Amino acid sequence: MKQYLKLDDWSVIEEDFNPEHHEISESVFSIGNGHMGQRANFEETYSGSSLQGSYMAGVYYPDKTRVGWWKNGYPEYFAKVLNSTNWIGLKVVIDNEELDLNIAKVSDFVRELNMKEGYLKRSFTAELSGGKKIKVATCRFVSMKVREAGALRYAITPLNFDGELTLTSYLDGDVKNTDANYDEKFWDPVDETVSNESATVIIKTKKLNFHMASTMINEYFQNGQKLTPEVKVAKREKYTSQEVVLPLKQNEETSVVKVAANVTNRDHDTSSLGEVAQRVCRSAMEKGFDRLLSEQKEAWAKKWETSDIVIEGDVSAQQGIRFNIFQLNQTYTGEDDRLNIGPKGFTGEKYGGSTYWDTEAYCLPFYLSTSDQNIARNLLVYRYKHLEKARENARKLGFTKGALYPMVTMNGEECHNEWEITFEEIHRNGAIAYAIYNYVNYTADRDYLGEYGVEVLAEISRFWEERVHFVNPKAVYMMHGVTGPNEYENNVNNNWYTNRIAAWTLEYTLEALAHVNETDPKRYEALINKLDLTEEETSKWSDIIDKMYYPVDEESGIFLQQDGYMDKEQIHVSELDEKHLPLNQNWSWDRILRSCFIKQADVLQGLYFLNSEFDIETKKRNFDFYEPRTVHESSLSPCVHSILACELGYREKAYEMYLRTARLDLDNYNNDTEDGCHTTSMAGTWMSVVHGFGGLKVQSDRLVLNPFIPGQWNAFSFKVLYRKARLNVQVTKEQVVVRNETDEKVDLTIGEEQFTLEGKEEIRTAMKK
Ligand code: BGC
Repeated sequence: MKQYLKLDDWSVIEEDFNPEHHEISESVFSIGNGHMGQRANFEETYSGSSLQGSYMAGVYYPDKTRVGWWKNGYPEYFAKVLNSTNWIGLKVVIDNEELDLNIAKVSDFVRELNMKEGYLKRSFTAELSGGKKIKVATCRFVSMKVREAGALRYAITPLNFDGELTLTSYLDGDVKNTDANYDEKFWDPVDETVSNESATVIIKTKKLNFHMASTMINEYFQNGQKLTPEVKVAKREKYTSQEVVLPLKQNEETSVVKVAANVTNRDHDTSSLGEVAQRVCRSAMEKGFDRLLSEQKEAWAKKWETSDIVIEGDVSAQQGIRFNIFQLNQTYTGEDDRLNIGPKGFTGEKYGGSTYWDTEAYCLPFYLSTSDQNIARNLLVYRYKHLEKARENARKLGFTKGALYPMVTMNGEECHNEWEITFEEIHRNGAIAYAIYNYVNYTADRDYLGEYGVEVLAEISRFWEERVHFVNPKAVYMMHGVTGPNEYENNVNNNWYTNRIAAWTLEYTLEALAHVNETDPKRYEALINKLDLTEEETSKWSDIIDKMYYPVDEESGIFLQQDGYMDKEQIHVSELDEKHLPLNQNWSWDRILRSCFIKQADVLQGLYFLNSEFDIETKKRNFDFYEPRTVHESSLSPCVHSILACELGYREKAYEMYLRTARLDLDNYNNDTEDGCHTTSMAGTWMSVVHGFGGLKVQSDRLVLNPFIPGQWNAFSFKVLYRKARLNVQVTKEQVVVRNETDEKVDLTIGEEQFTLEGKEEIRTAMKK
């Protein structure tokens, strides 16, 4: 754990330059706007270690699969998030010496990610080799208002000399992915144009024909006055630049404002891409840096209006939650229904793809409660649109019917290639079914079932039907050869979570079918015909529900993660020497697989999802057993433990797990933030506050709150959109205050008390002790 960032309510701040943590900072200080985003790479040259990353949503490269031993069923490619044109680049040369913070003596360094207003700022003093000192101040953002534009301002003040600045502003599409199976570059050149006014680079991917055009316009200022210096232009393949030479005067500021547009043929005609980039860039530059920035602040103020969480009395927790909400809002905005939420967002290459079960299991609740309902609906429809591909995926693996959604995908096709995950981590199908339930239960949009939901549910159910096998002597259905959410065990038999979520899917599918039959018989008929669904099949589903086998330890009554789990050597994480952690960086895979240690919530994931099915004693028993064995080496784990700990009244544990999820990247808990942030798990942090400490759930069309406040906090408050209402929930040590900010009436339960909250009404009730 590296704690070098300053605590602050609204900003992430690094004081003093920490080159040893530079790549971590590049991840943490990333910026994005749903359309594009980038790591916090420096504008000027940096020769120290750095992970360059500038990403365009939905633009990817199908990198041919490279594995040691090919197994039938493997996908042909892994979809890589693409490092694309670097539009922020500036080469800063002062009197023949290039500025490079890896070489210069740096002081007064401050880097700030202002999350309230959505920009990244940096300032420092650099002493060059001859003792010349300059002060540099930068600010940049990708616009939330003009999604295809980004802007930066870079100001230099010489502190002890008069001299000359040679500034080269460039667009560089000649970039690589660190993660490339065959060490090739993924982009080919298309066109470069450069004039005194602007410069453009157009590149296209080697496969799939994605085109991207970037245009930049630079303006120069000295002491607030615009300059019109002579511009020297240059270009080469995938690269254009404009160079100016400006006199520097001691204590006088010289600055460049660089505006860039990045457009792709996902949104525009390939043939007009260059013109579109020019147009977008010109109109952004006409607004100017200050206006673009004030629009940015307004756009972020709107985002925070529906998604902010306030924690009083604990800056560390406050900063953590805002950081998580900020990253989520910059990753996915819901406007483009072809997009999804990648595990690293715009902060790194790792994990490729864009869509994991993370979306349904973790992210959906955040977007459900903080954005327009259609955004969550779009996330479900995204999977509906991939149903055909999921059917093909199941056929490819030898199933005669049903659908298996991919573990990782960009376009519906599976692109994950580790057999124990691709073929075995099939619980992901259950999360997709569960998300439909979650959405319908939260929004009451039951029409969704007839429109899209039932088709997906039925096809997933068919997959489970074929995936289980009947064990005659025992008269039970079992599922062998699976990997549960806990990836530290592979190829196990009867993973409790997978068996349970499979049977639950069958139950919910039957319920959904009955609902459509009851409310819209015509649609029901049409669906039965379309799906060719027979009574024989649905009665088989009922039989599986009745006879599903669940591994349980008879003695203790614990749900066993899988058959034979108790036969492993049982050790607690607390018994391990610190130096072994994280296990995935210190132990061989073989040792991990043989151990009892659990990477992430598995049985507990089931207890969280299907919460109302289990009594408190059952939850307690399982939590007490699994928590000491869990290493939380998946970022998705601590939030589930935090939420359950809240329900069980384990206050300290709930808080500990909350901090771990909220500050996972800020404090680099898992020692891997340099690869990028854990964006999808950030939605889990939000869940820890709202579902955990707030105790929010929807039961029988009532919004239920069961708040508890950690001892470290004086108060906390959050906002949720619920059906057509917006509620502000404030929890102090003494009371819960719920204010209805809209005119919609809401049926609400707080603890044991029931209320009907009229429009604009506020209710207060004492906290139960
Ligand atoms: C976790 C998976 C998760 C993936 C992407 C893995 O480490 O084990 O559950 O889907 O990361 O976040």
